[in-house]
Amino acid sequence: MTQYLITGANRGLGLEFVRQLLERGDRVIAGCRHPGRAGALNRFSGAFPGHLKVLPLDVSEPRSVAAFASEVAMLELSIDVLIHNAGMLVSGEEFGKVEAHALSHTFATNTMGPFLLSQALSAQLKDGGKLVAISSGLGSIARTQRFGTPSYDISKAALNMAMRLLGHALAERRIAVLALSPGWVKTDMGGENADLEPAQSIANMLKVIDALAFDEAAIGQFLGNDGKTIPW
Ligand SMILES: NC(=O)c1ccc[n+]([C@@H]2O[C@H](COP(=O)([O-])OP(=O)(O)OC[C@H]3O[C@@H](n4cnc5c(N)ncnc54)[C@H](OP(=O)(O)O)[C@@H]3O)[C@@H](O)[C@H]2O)c1
Repeated sequence: MTQYLITGANRGLGLEFVRQLLERGDRVIAGCRHPGRAGALNRFSGAFPGHLKVLPLDVSEPRSVAAFASEVAMLELSIDVLIHNAGMLVSGEEFGKVEAHALSHTFATNTMGPFLLSQALSAQLKDGGKLVAISSGLGSIARTQRFGTPSYDISKAALNMAMRLLGHALAERRIAVLALSPGWVKTDMGGENADLEPAQSIANMLKVIDALAFDEAAIGQFLGNDGKTIPW
């Protein structure tokens, strides 16, 4: 039985990760901002007794990250796979009107949070385990062809760098580190015109994560949900 930890687990892709993992018999620690209001997650706790632990976590707040990491440490278990899924996107940004708060809050959520949480939980992460961040094709500098969603795109490009750096920091423990794009998915963030249902995106990503193994020649890779490399 594999122990997963997933952030932003109360809706969207995070919730679907939890659902598919519980259904296949794995154990999950789920972080979300308001466990008391996480109805679907809490129903899973009842349906899969002993397999799901829900803990409060706001990834943009270093104090919340530290408190979450302490609570996880108190569970005295080791994590096989840590998935940084929590993320935010400010829509409707226009050149000339991009606000400092949008840039800084998006960076705190999408980049700083995963980096600090990886550091804080590194002692609980198993040697030979996996560290995965849900990134985005919009974080690919090489593919950027328009002034799109700058706060988000900058934060995901920086997240990719954070994962590459963490890959090197954790290489001596043979922890495989990956930035993984889910594709364009029908969630609150992706919207109803997106290409993929959450169930399909998660099934694809779980295949990539299951196949992931430490490889010195591929530290901190950036892959799509088909397992193919995305250019930086
Ligand atoms: N959907 C897509 O097409 C798409 C494409 C590329 C990448 N992604 C990435 O996939 C991940 C999941 O996205 P999604 O589509 O599922 O988005 P979503 O439906 O908007 O859900 C976002 C999740 O992140 C949580 N979250 C946001 N800020 C947080 C914070 N400060 N602390 C803790 N949790 C926080 C939300 O919690 P609350 O309910 O408390 O707000 C929610 O659970 C994100 O990293 C996103 O960037 C999505």
